[in-house]
Parts: sequence; C-alpha cells; structure tokens
Amino acid sequence: MTTDDDAPDRLVDAERAPEDAGETSLRPQTLDDFTGQQAVRRNLKVFIEAARGRGEALDHVLLFGPPGLGKTTLAQIVARELGVNFRATSGPVIAKAGDLAALLTNLGPRDVLFIDEIHRLNPAVEEVLYPAMEDFQLDLIIGEGPSARSIRIDLPPFTLVAATTRSGLITRPLRERFGIPLRLEFYSPEELTGIVRRGARLLDLDLTEDGAAEIARRARGTPRVAGRLLRRVRDFASVAGSGRVDAEIADAALTRLDIDSRGLDSMDRRYLGCIAENYGGGPVGAETLGAALGEQRDVIEEVIEPYLMQQGLLQRTPRGRVLSASGWRYLGLTPTVVAAAQLDLLPADPLDDDMLEDGPVGGGNA
Ligand SMILES: Nc1ncnc2c1ncn2[C@@H]1O[C@H](COP(=O)(O)OP(=O)(O)O)[C@@H](O)[C@H]1O
Ligand SMILES: [Mg+2]
Repeated sequence: MTTDDDAPDRLVDAERAPEDAGETSLRPQTLDDFTGQQAVRRNLKVFIEAARGRGEALDHVLLFGPPGLGKTTLAQIVARELGVNFRATSGPVIAKAGDLAALLTNLGPRDVLFIDEIHRLNPAVEEVLYPAMEDFQLDLIIGEGPSARSIRIDLPPFTLVAATTRSGLITRPLRERFGIPLRLEFYSPEELTGIVRRGARLLDLDLTEDGAAEIARRARGTPRVAGRLLRRVRDFASVAGSGRVDAEIADAALTRLDIDSRGLDSMDRRYLGCIAENYGGGPVGAETLGAALGEQRDVIEEVIEPYLMQQGLLQRTPRGRVLSASGWRYLGLTPTVVAAAQLDLLPADPLDDDMLEDGPVGGGNA
C-alpha cells in the first residue's frame, strides 16, 4: 500500500510538509504500536476485525481532537490493518465536485480515503460526498445551462476516514454519515513517557527513565510536541557532548526552549497574561484575543486553548474566555474583577462545544 504514487494527493497532504518530514520515522505503524487512546484503539480493533472478517469496507470513521494527537497516524494505521490502499487529501484542497470525483473513482474496493480538515470542505463538494458515502454513488452534473445533464457513477465500497480539529464546525448531515466517530483525548504523562521512550529508541538516543518522564510532562499532552521536544533535547545533548540524557539535561534544554515546568510555552503564557492584564481575567472573545496577540483565531481555538482548558487554567463560557483561579495562580497574580464574571459560569468541558451530539464511540479518558 502506498500513498506516494499520486501527485495530487501528495500536494495536499500536510503531513508531508518539510517541517513534518522528520516525524515520519516516529509514526507508529500498527494499532499495537500506537500508545494511549485506549478506548479508541479497542473500538477500532473490533470494527476492523469485523469488517475484515466479512470482507466488507469498514464503516466511515470520523477522528476529532486537537492537532498532534494522532489523527493522521490512526488513519494510516486503519488502512494498513485493513490491508487496503491509503489515499490522503484535505478539505480545503478539494475545490470542486470534479476533484472529489477524480479521487473517488480512483479508489479500489475497500480502500481508505483520508480527508484531513474535513470541516473546511466546500459545501458544493460536501453535497456530492453524501451519496458517495451512503450509497457509493456519484451524482455529477456535466455541462451547463439547458444542455446540462446529470450522470450517475457507481463507486466501489470504500471507507472515508476524516479528521477534524473542530467537530463543532461539521454540518449535521455530514457527521451523521460517519458510523464510527472517535474522539481523541490529550495523553497522560505516563502514556507520553512511553511514546518518548519509544522515540528515543528509534532515534538511538540514550535517555534515562526520568529524562523521558521530564520530556513527557512538558509535552502539552501531545505526541507531536513530545517528538519535537525529544529532537531538540537530543540536539542540546549532542552539542553539550553528553551521551546520556537524564532529567537534569532534559530540563536544561527545555528551559532554554522557554518551556516551563508545566509544559507551557511562551505563547501560552502570553495568551494567559493577555487575558489577565488586558481584560481583567475575562470574559473576552476569541476574536479580540486573536487581534491583541496577533494570532489567527483558528490557532487560538485549536492549538492554544484546548490544552489550557484541559489543564484547568482557562474556561470557555458563552460570554468568552475566563481565567480560572488556577490560571491566576499560575501567573502568580491576584484575580481582579474576575469573581463577578465567574458567578454565571457554566461548567466547561475542554472540548465540549466540539462534541458530537450522539457522543463519540471512543470517548472517555481510557
Ligand atoms: N499514540 C501515538 N504514539 C506514538 N506516536 C504518536 C501517537 N500519536 C501521534 N504520534 C506521533 O505524533 C505526531 C503527530 O501525529 P499525527 O497523527 O500527525 O497528529 P494529527 O493528525 O492528529 O495532527 C506523529 O509524528 C506521530 O508519530
Ligand atoms: Mg494530521
């Protein structure tokens, strides 16, 4: 199975972007090799075995959760475990129905088509995707005006694996067509320690147990971050001429990267500091914060906030973002006007507004 023989696919696969290239070697290849996300893994295993046993295409899978938690990795694993081809593309790149048609008609029976960032799919393309997912049929309009005619193409049964950081932005008709919605959670420090140890082994780095734990603790609950930190720590260690990396060396390297003992980086601190100092602890809207910080709203909502919420430093409320008591404590500041603002807080689950209504199959913290 390969994804490399098709030029349009390559163009669109973010995972092949240069900065990501090094990650490839750390990517787990099988479900057993994939650490953490136990509930998701257990469910996928059953569904894959069942589909294989019946010789049918696996039901469509929707993976959602913050960046770097393993969505693309799992999509590739699904194809590998099914023993079928894997084709990758992404929502914003499929500009028109014809692009999607080209992708779909090139699939073999039971193949996996991976659409990353599915929430950014063009609505006209989405319309074409519905019958393709449901009945394995493509309805296309050829030509324009009075001479336009519609044609119907039968597709082989295939599996759509889609990924999104924002399941809340997926239209209802689309998400209802996924038989297997799976929500990925941030990883525990223990799971990340396992991932770091595995990475060190693959990178041939002599890392002590406490060194691995130190990196894991500061990886923002995210394997991609863990991999990146591991490489940077390795750089520091090799320049410093120390063969063996322990917690002390890891700490020195991470501190120089501006990652604090809690794993927050300078952007996280700037974000929290901005709410405290400019907005009295909130509530403040994402748009306003983005403008104040010079960051895209997407980055704020998808990359920065989920982890800060999971850590209990921040709460998302209907009226905007609010610093929590531990957020204030983290900054070493005293709450100002926050008490009044927090009176009408709703309890906020970190990813709540991104939840599927029916609830994901894989949910829970395993
Ligand atoms: N469970 C895991 N175990 C080990 N490495 C992982 C795991 N999940 C993700 N990774 C690593 O983290 C990086 C990012 O994963 P990826 O699947 O690209 O995330 P996403 O698509 O959710 O943004 C990859 O290099 C991958 O090797
Ligand atoms: Mg990805």
